[in-house]
Amino acid sequence: MNTFSFNNNALYAESVAVTDLMVEYGSPLYIYSRGQIVSNWQQFDQAFGDHPHLICYAVKANSNLGVLNILAKLGSGFDIVSIGELERVIAAGGLPGRCVFSGVSKTKTEIQRALELGIYCFNVESAAELDRVESVAKLLSTKAPISIRVNPDVDANTHPYIATGLKENKFGVGIEKALALYKKAELSKHLDVFGLDYHIGSQITEVSPFIEALEKALELISQLKAEGIKMSHIDIGGGLGIAYNDEKTINIEKYIQSVLDKVGDLEVILEPGRAIVGNAGIFVTQVEYLKQGGVKSFAIIDGAMNDLQRPSLYGSYHQAIAVENNSKGIKDTWDLVGPICETGDFLAKDRELTLAQGDYIALMSAGAYGFVLSSNYNSRPRVAEVMVSGSNHALVRKRETVGSLFENESIFNNEIN
Ligand code: LLP
Repeated sequence: MNTFSFNNNALYAESVAVTDLMVEYGSPLYIYSRGQIVSNWQQFDQAFGDHPHLICYAVKANSNLGVLNILAKLGSGFDIVSIGELERVIAAGGLPGRCVFSGVSKTKTEIQRALELGIYCFNVESAAELDRVESVAKLLSTKAPISIRVNPDVDANTHPYIATGLKENKFGVGIEKALALYKKAELSKHLDVFGLDYHIGSQITEVSPFIEALEKALELISQLKAEGIKMSHIDIGGGLGIAYNDEKTINIEKYIQSVLDKVGDLEVILEPGRAIVGNAGIFVTQVEYLKQGGVKSFAIIDGAMNDLQRPSLYGSYHQAIAVENNSKGIKDTWDLVGPICETGDFLAKDRELTLAQGDYIALMSAGAYGFVLSSNYNSRPRVAEVMVSGSNHALVRKRETVGSLFENESIFNNEIN
């Protein structure tokens, strides 16, 4: 589907001209396509056919209620990493019974609330966490459904900040230690062993690390079976990369088929985030000033690293395109930089574009880890988010106001007496 495409030199989001959205909602702006989110989710769902499966969308990728509600209506499950994310899922109409709870440091309060709400499963990440989940379940006189997140020690060949499946990473239980932990869990009156989980990293563009991790996990599952410990599901994590530029990506149908070929009748849980929302969103910003004549040419835009952190944080690439491609502006090789007082404040470097003051530029594939990573740095209100469906559109988060930036602050009484 052509969610973001040109028509008469103008970029459209589904059937709405992006310039019209900018005029109505202001700049900068995140724009999401409902149709793209739906088709991305359905692609995963259909790839599983009749095999028992649960797609648990990784809420951290984009936790806007408007996004979560679309997925909840499709029957999606959710991968959450905090009680805040669980409450969002519920507020958006999602079911706690379809949530898996990941993350290395679940607090007692979070575990208690998740148990009361009846989540599907805790993905336990350490021996200490297993003890804590057990003791909270005991306190509530209940049994906690658990899966153990193992660290399969595979190299996902991605940015070091988002690789999670290596021995030196903080995530999961070393696969060699997992057997003992499962034995302990199996004996507990307050733990119900349901599955085994791993997540090896994010923005992975080759299938081989996924298969290597799967094979290691299945080997452990058969060892467990030999010990009389049965699993009902395997959670293969998220991490499927998308094309930000011209990267080759993994064929989802083929990947899922190769998983299904190996797992027998185990239910499969998948935790995709980026692959569901990444290409369903753009971040649009406006040119404030053009600054040429030095070693570099700068287009100074109203969007900044606080709005879209990925380029500054990971050196990530987002395609930058002029929203109207018949600009009467200046053709040059531009760095797109924001108003923040840091040299690291750039959204794109060395892009050939024809630009004039006031032009809009779209940073593509910004639907995942875009708004959620934004901050108020430099006292900048966070931007608005809009959902488009066909020719309909609506705000799904209003722009913050300057007043709201300091409403939780107060002045310390520092009079000298
Ligand atoms: N499951 C777990 C346990 C995770 O930690 C993550 C992402 C996912 C699923 C979803 O992964 P995905 O399918 O989206 O790759 N901020 C970084 C990405 C951080 C990913 C963190 N964990 C970025 O902008 O690239």
